[in-house]
Amino acid sequence: MAKILVSGLKPSGTLHLGNYLGMLKQAVVLQEKSYRRFYFIADYHSLTLKYKASEKAKEIFEMAVDALAAGLDPKKSTIFIQSHIKEHANLTWIFNNITSVGELTRMVEYKEKVAQGQVPNAGLLDYPVLMAADILVYKGEVVPVGEDQLQHLELSRTIARTFNNRFGKTFPEPKAILTKAPRIMSLADPKQKMSKSISRGCLFLTDSAKVIKEKVAAAQTDSHKEISYDPEKRPGISNLVLIYAELTNSSPIQLVKKFKGVGYREFKSELARVIDKEFKPFRENRKKLLANKSKVVKILEAGAKQARPVAEATMAEVRRKVGLI
Ligand code: TYM
Repeated sequence: MAKILVSGLKPSGTLHLGNYLGMLKQAVVLQEKSYRRFYFIADYHSLTLKYKASEKAKEIFEMAVDALAAGLDPKKSTIFIQSHIKEHANLTWIFNNITSVGELTRMVEYKEKVAQGQVPNAGLLDYPVLMAADILVYKGEVVPVGEDQLQHLELSRTIARTFNNRFGKTFPEPKAILTKAPRIMSLADPKQKMSKSISRGCLFLTDSAKVIKEKVAAAQTDSHKEISYDPEKRPGISNLVLIYAELTNSSPIQLVKKFKGVGYREFKSELARVIDKEFKPFRENRKKLLANKSKVVKILEAGAKQARPVAEATMAEVRRKVGLI
C-alpha cells in the first residue's frame, strides 16, 4: 500500500525561499511518487504567535493560494485547512496526557520564540503536540519538513511510541524527508536561519525582480574574492551557492568550478536572475488564483471532505482504545 505523507504550512506571513527549498519544492516533486498525500494550512498553529485577528482569515486563505501557486495539485494531493478537521484538536487533547511538560519546555523552537519576546502561552508550549496529532490523525509515515522541525518530529515519534505501548499498536513512527537544503540561512545574517522575523534577509516568493535583485546584492558575504562552498568558514557565500545549486539542479561543487574567477557581484546578479526566473510562474499563478477565489474555496472544501473520514476513523479507534465511551 502507498505510504502516507503528511505536512503543513503555517499561515503567518508570506512564503519565503527557506520554506520553498526546505519543504515546498520537494512536496511538489513528491506528488509524482506513490504516496497518499495530505497537505494542510496549519491555521491553529499560527494562533500561538501574536497576530491581528482582522488579518488572520486573509493570511490563511493566501497561504492556501500560495501552496497551490507553488504547485501543490488537488488532483494529486489532499489539500485543506487544519481547523476544518476537528479531529486534529481532539487528538491533541488525548496526546497531551501522554506528553511530559519537561520535554515540551526543552523544545528549541519554544525557547527561541520565548527569548524573542513571545508570550509563553500554553498553545505555544503545546505546538509540537498539535503537530504530532496533525501527522498521526492520518497515520502519517513520512513528513517533508525543514531541519528546524526535526525536534518536533522526534517528539511525534515519542508520542506514537508511548501511545502504542500504553494502548496497543495504533500509530506508525513518522520519519522526516529532508531536502539537500534543509536549512536556508538569512541573507542578512547567515548565522541565523532565513525567517520572516528578519525581513531584510528574507526572500519572499512574492518579491518582484527588483526587490530580489536588491536583497541578493545586499546579502552578507565576506572579504574573499573567490566563490567557494564552505558553510562552516564562509557561511554567507555558501548559502548563496546552495540556493543557486538547488534552483538549477546542480551541486555546490559544480558551481564553484563554473564560477571560478567570477567575482561576488557578478555571481549575485546571476543568482538574482535565477531566483526571479523560478518564481515568475509562481507570481503569475498566484495572481490568477487570487482573481478566482471561489475555485480555491472549492479545492479546500473538497480537500476537507477527503481528509475528514480518515481523521474520523483514527479518532474513533483512539477513543475506543483510551477508554472513552
Ligand atoms: P512553517 O510554515 O513555519 O514552515 C514550513 C516549512 O518550511 C520549512 N522551513 C525551512 N526550511 C529550510 N530553511 C529555512 N530557513 C526554513 N524555514 C522554514 C519548515 O521546516 C517547514 O517544513 N510547524 C510547521 C507547520 C506544521 C507541520 C505540521 C509540518 C504544523 N503541523 C505537521 C509538518 C507536519 C512549520 O514550522 O511550518
